[in-house]
Amino acid sequence: MNLKEYIREIPNFPKEGISFKDITTLIKDKKAYKYAIDKLAENLKNKNIDYIIGPEARGFIIGAPVAYALGVGFVPIRKKGKLPGTTLSKTYKLEYGEDTIQIHDDAIPKGSRVAIVDDLIATGGTVNAIIDMIEDLGSQVVSCQFIIELTALNTNERLKQYDINTLVQYDDKE
Ligand code: PRP
Ligand code: MG
Repeated sequence: MNLKEYIREIPNFPKEGISFKDITTLIKDKKAYKYAIDKLAENLKNKNIDYIIGPEARGFIIGAPVAYALGVGFVPIRKKGKLPGTTLSKTYKLEYGEDTIQIHDDAIPKGSRVAIVDDLIATGGTVNAIIDMIEDLGSQVVSCQFIIELTALNTNERLKQYDINTLVQYDDKE
């Protein structure tokens, strides 16, 4: 299945010159959604993953069903101020600005093997911040799985040491 056929490109959103990759058209299609989730779960099947970590908001739509498919727990990363318990925070640069994300500081037992799952990797800023938080909590990022990669933006050298898999790639320059 060619997943690009299900991803809608919206020109000039959220700003001039950006071609937004809209996954709402993919996730509403029962075959494409299942195919994408099954592929990501398949990539993680033999890695002894204890938890799937997914960032708000689109990471919930993709990460939670992958956790369900693998039969493991799901740990949400949320935008600032949403988690009720004690949190660990990280501020990081986005493709279009800056953001602060949080995780419950007791969400992942030390020594866990986790995988990060999200819809898209662009600059890698989000996944890099999540890796920092997981490592600060004493656990290991075994793999990172995305549906979409914007290859020209994904230039973070540090990320090369991690297992990163993407299902479709676009070479957009911004
Ligand atoms: C988007 C996307 C990824 C992130 C990737 O999320 O869903 O999480 O950006 O970009 P990066 O690799 O440059 O960090 P966004 O923060 O726009 O929020 P959303 O998921 O709530 O829509
Ligand atoms: Mg996101």
